[in-house]
Amino acid sequence: MAAEKPWILTLTAQTPTNIAVIKYWGKRDEHLILPINDSISVTLDPDHLCTTTSVAVSPAFDGDRMWLNGKEVSLSGGRFQNCLRELRSRGGDVEDEQKGIKITKKDWEKLHFHIVSYNNFPTAAGLASSAAGLACLVFSLAKLMNVKEDHSRLSAIARQGSGSACRSLYGGFVKWIMGNEENGSDSIAVQLADEKHWDDLVIIIAVSSRQKETSSTSGMRDTVETSMLIQHRAKEVVPKRIIQMEEAIKTRDFPAFARLACADKMIQQEDVRSQVAYTFDAGPNAVLISHNRKAAALLLQRLLFYFPPKSDADLNSYVIGDKTILQDAGIQNMNDVDALTPPPEIKDSNNPSQKFRGDVSYFICTKPGRGPTVLTDESRSLINPETGRPK
Ligand code: ADE
Repeated sequence: MAAEKPWILTLTAQTPTNIAVIKYWGKRDEHLILPINDSISVTLDPDHLCTTTSVAVSPAFDGDRMWLNGKEVSLSGGRFQNCLRELRSRGGDVEDEQKGIKITKKDWEKLHFHIVSYNNFPTAAGLASSAAGLACLVFSLAKLMNVKEDHSRLSAIARQGSGSACRSLYGGFVKWIMGNEENGSDSIAVQLADEKHWDDLVIIIAVSSRQKETSSTSGMRDTVETSMLIQHRAKEVVPKRIIQMEEAIKTRDFPAFARLACADKMIQQEDVRSQVAYTFDAGPNAVLISHNRKAAALLLQRLLFYFPPKSDADLNSYVIGDKTILQDAGIQNMNDVDALTPPPEIKDSNNPSQKFRGDVSYFICTKPGRGPTVLTDESRSLINPETGRPK
């Protein structure tokens, strides 16, 4: 008689990325990933930027394995291991009579996972791929394993994979509370408001053609070790900004939101910040936030005037995400970009746009978005349910 084929149980989830408007910069514990100050972020619409992760468990698997964007990657790093260990100790009972699956809590220590993950945006382009990626890994495994913890507790696990991943466990506007406990148990993310609370915000990301030169981990370490001002920022400056930013979000006060976001990135330009908030992540990509679609359309016109693409680019791949902002800006093709009239601040006839041609790889138009979701449609799974390997 043929031996019965071992079962494979799979689950697929999607998780957004996020952009901090009050920054996480500096750790007080490198191993547990504990920050020196609270931070606040906006979750970005996963329809435009997201990680999709499928996870599988089977008695036939003889080790934990992961494939990221089509290539097998090692899970031996301490950060992945911390997340897997925390999840294994919290797995619950799982039963599927039809498939003949019965897993009890204690089985999770011996069972292995296959993880297949895909980012729909360039990994390592400074777009917080590890935030979305680690949040998705923790969320999908927690659902597969029937971990009965709320999102805040899951955020404390994701935090140990990548600090800012804890903020991707929620949609909308999110605060990562630094916490005081030495074991990090109170360093968690909480939702300040969901994505519908302030949904006329438009976020435009200018993805630089240059690479991120310094990793966030080493940049933060150097700052904490060498800056005489960083403790002042963490203890005196940020706590006040956090209170003000929470209020600005609660009351949808865009000028206050923009002033605080720009100040936290040390950008001072009185004339524009009541119209546009801007910040940078650790990479060279500028993130610009407009208070409504009309302002965003004007902003996009200006951005395309100053940063036209290389001559062979097509508009469809130069402006991605929510294309309706392009329509609002009256731009349908590259001829419309070339024909943009110079903004009023340009006084001489030298067209400065040529100076920056090609400096931006592409623009992403997006908005505040929802938190993690389980994708129930089997066709969205990245794992072959027969082999437990990438499709
Ligand atoms: N780092 C970058 N992207 C990731 C992903 N999708 N999963 C895990 N780690 C990542």
